[in-house]
Amino acid sequence: MEQTLETCGLRPLAPGVGMEVTGVDLSNLSGEDRYFILDAFHNHSALLFRDQNLGNDDFVSFSRIFGELDRAVEAQRHKAVPGMPEIFVVSNIRDTDGKAIGSLGAGEAVWHSDNSDRENPPDAILLYAMEVPPTGGDTSVSGMFAALEDMPTDLHRKIEGRSIKHDGTYNAGGYVRKGVVANDDPLTCEGRLHPAICIHPASGKPVLYLGRRRNAYVDGLSLEESETLLDELWAHATNRKYAYTHKWRVGDLLMWDNRSTLHRRDEFNPEHRRLMHRTLILGKTAPHAV
Ligand code: SIN
Repeated sequence: MEQTLETCGLRPLAPGVGMEVTGVDLSNLSGEDRYFILDAFHNHSALLFRDQNLGNDDFVSFSRIFGELDRAVEAQRHKAVPGMPEIFVVSNIRDTDGKAIGSLGAGEAVWHSDNSDRENPPDAILLYAMEVPPTGGDTSVSGMFAALEDMPTDLHRKIEGRSIKHDGTYNAGGYVRKGVVANDDPLTCEGRLHPAICIHPASGKPVLYLGRRRNAYVDGLSLEESETLLDELWAHATNRKYAYTHKWRVGDLLMWDNRSTLHRRDEFNPEHRRLMHRTLILGKTAPHAV
């Protein structure tokens, strides 16, 4: 049963995913608040906290409630806040030498879950808004519990017991990952197989598990059959009825479960500045089939 506290409250973000947590200062949490937030996160897959004022240490210590943090790796085009390897910079801003201070630029990031080609993909992502453009750059999160529950029976049957290859060649912005050779053949690209329907590691409930559409492949099918099935599956999973779209304000922290959601970002005017700090909670387990 969901807990309620005198100070913290919950307000739904969208029917398929997410809650706004109200009445909480993430830099000053009680043990009860932490429990409340963890419970809400496991039940709703995405949480929004408005009007926060977090220093880098506050952001890192709040993130650690959810597990061990990944470290930004230059080799994967990620850049960290100087002296804070746990905080990745997501930004289009360039320094005085014209060098990008972060990753992803101002372009669109298509629907995906993060690092799904890893053996143990990350558990969660936290994004904290430092500077936001006046328009554009909205982030959407889509609930894969809802997408699976609502899946037409014939589509469910087609993916039951199947595994999908998760590409390791391109990131969500369409860039080739450093050290990897460009390859657009789903059969031969670098990648890893994971079950299409997994048991969610925290809740124990079945969930649709997708990485990104590009270079995906349904194991055991011909390429043509795989493409047809993936088009149908992705059209279903990215239906807007399962999604919440967030319009950012400075001081917002939005976090989502990487094992039970997909996320994407709208492009924005490159003349405008957008600066986000991101932490990534390392995965503790490999995705398991139902
Ligand atoms: C991403 O993590 O794919 C981008 C999120 C964002 O910049 O809003």
